[in-house]
Amino acid sequence: MILTFNIIFILIILSVLKVVILSFVFSEEIEAAKKKDPAAKSRFEIILLYPGLHALIIYRVAHFLYRRHMFILARLLSQIARFLTGIEIHPGASIGRRFFIDHGMGVVIGETTIIQDDVLLYQGVTLGGSSLEHGKRHPTIGNNVVIGTGAKVLGNIIIGDNSYIGANAVVIKDVPPNSTVVGVPGKITKQDGKKLDVNLDHTHVLDPIMQNIEEIEKRIKDLENNN
Ligand SMILES: CC(C)(COP(=O)(O)OP(=O)(O)OC[C@H]1O[C@@H](n2cnc3c(N)ncnc32)[C@H](O)[C@@H]1OP(=O)(O)O)[C@@H](O)C(=O)NCCC(=O)NCCS
Repeated sequence: MILTFNIIFILIILSVLKVVILSFVFSEEIEAAKKKDPAAKSRFEIILLYPGLHALIIYRVAHFLYRRHMFILARLLSQIARFLTGIEIHPGASIGRRFFIDHGMGVVIGETTIIQDDVLLYQGVTLGGSSLEHGKRHPTIGNNVVIGTGAKVLGNIIIGDNSYIGANAVVIKDVPPNSTVVGVPGKITKQDGKKLDVNLDHTHVLDPIMQNIEEIEKRIKDLENNN
């Protein structure tokens, strides 16, 4: 009885210690989560329940190991984080300060991704490669960028500071700073706070393959008409 009580007491002390240490070491990230998620009620809730923070903590350890060439151990940690949180951050990625992933499930961040400071990602975001070559093949995300749920940012491209990538956008080209990009393929709809004159087809999601097929059909019809 006394032994059980002692074990429970030690576990409580260890948990409190963990919360205290994490709230010091990751205070900036916790504050960023509190600022960027209106649903967050307290720092304690964030430490205890936010998968984005848990994935980031494990990533920081994995990245430390990766930089010391302990690749397998680093990947193992990253896979454990994926199992626990649904967020896969390659330990080779480079992530700046005050990074926050809201909800998180389904986020994938590739090996050569660079993320600068104050970036916010939502669930289902992919920062992926678009070629099988080695070397830098994932995006560079500037400071203060927000990437909406389900968006895919592919290839060695640069997303400029203070930009917004809309939910479900597919971005495959550089984006200048202070831009808003939406759609498939991503189109800039706002720059430096001004709306650009872009026709967005909101009733049909733009499909580049379908657009190519339509273009080919049109050319075949033109050729047939000319004969
Ligand atoms: C793109 C986004 C940042 C809005 O930016 P904004 O500058 O406020 O844009 P606006 O609302 O003025 O919309 C600009 C145009 O893009 C369209 N648009 C906005 N978001 C879009 C999206 N994700 N996909 C396609 N079109 C979109 C709007 O309908 C509008 O079209 P219109 O000019 O023809 O009327 C926002 O819509 C978005 O997608 N945020 C992601 C948020 C998110 O993922 N939340 C998840 C919480 S769990």
